Amino acid sequence: MIDLSADLGPIRLKNPLIAASSEFTMTRAGIDAALAAGAAAVISKSINESPDAARQLDIADYVALDCGGTIAPWESAGDDASLFCRSGLAQAPRDEWLEMLARADRAARARDAYVAGSITVAEAAPAARLAAAMEAAGLRWIELNLSAPHGREAARGAVRQVTDAEAVGEYVRQVRAATRVALTVKLTAQSGDPIALAERAVRAGADMLVLMGRFQGFMPDIETGRPILGSAGAIGGRWALPLTLYWVSKCFKAVAPAMPIVATNGVRTGDDVIRALLSGARAVELASAVLGRGPGVFAEMLAGIEAYCERKGIARLAEIVGKAAEAAVDYGALRPVKRAGYPWDRFIRGV
Ligand SMILES: Cc1cc2nc3c(=O)[nH]c(=O)nc-3n(C[C@H](O)[C@H](O)[C@H](O)COP(=O)(O)O)c2cc1C
Repeated sequence: MIDLSADLGPIRLKNPLIAASSEFTMTRAGIDAALAAGAAAVISKSINESPDAARQLDIADYVALDCGGTIAPWESAGDDASLFCRSGLAQAPRDEWLEMLARADRAARARDAYVAGSITVAEAAPAARLAAAMEAAGLRWIELNLSAPHGREAARGAVRQVTDAEAVGEYVRQVRAATRVALTVKLTAQSGDPIALAERAVRAGADMLVLMGRFQGFMPDIETGRPILGSAGAIGGRWALPLTLYWVSKCFKAVAPAMPIVATNGVRTGDDVIRALLSGARAVELASAVLGRGPGVFAEMLAGIEAYCERKGIARLAEIVGKAAEAAVDYGALRPVKRAGYPWDRFIRGV
């Protein structure tokens, strides 16, 4: 029996798979479907104090883009497609929402699983009040999302993407002061120095880091000459995995190997989960794969992870955390590469 458990500090997961916050986790039915399929935890759809942020869900729109940038049918888009969208926040009245989450979390205990509340921030003080309300409702875990790619486009102040280290510290400090439950902080790489953001979040009291939020993108349709979706949108895809794992590996080494890191943005298969763990993450959060292929991806990934552990003789999955990050060599310490030529020499020769 392989031990797949993940130690996230105050939270111990039965396996490293978490359903990330998305429209899939916006209803009790979606939350239950993810848990029934084997997810160790569900991060519920985010809320905040701004009516504009909830109203943004009314203009939400979603397409799958193939790797050439063309809209692909959702049903057959597959793991290589990028999910390009405008999303908003959950619209249910706050107390009703928290009661539903608390009930879902109580039911999750029977599966040795968790349902976490999620706040995509607008202002810090209301985020802290929401966190306190989540704890009072009985939730055991809160994720504070400081990474929202829509921050720049959203109605003024409705949703913020926090790119300044001092501001990260202030958001986390206020929320930490308001609650004692496990606190995850989700950060963006669309800032000058993600390591500085991570350091501030840790210093201000984060229990875990989630790296990294998706990116804001823009894609014209060359037939109509207009932007796909009619606007900018958030984008993520399999191509994002190495970008995510770069910062996971850097934070694993720089911030503190003892600080639990969760990887999000680009994980699509069991092999990708292994890649994330080797880079220093202890768990992963998945949205696109679940929205595109359904919650069956959890069982599929668990089978892939178990097959890998069996093939490699790994008894405890946590053994591999950070192995690749530790083996990474700084450019300055590398020896010159001996080569007979470059692969592209054949295009140049004889010109
Ligand atoms: C349609 C959609 C809605 C999302 N909504 C939220 C949200 O409300 N709060 C949040 O923290 N992240 C949100 N995310 C980001 C996901 O939680 C996740 O971090 C991201 O999609 C990267 O993972 P993936 O490559 O598995 O999709 C959303 C993503 C998508 C695609």
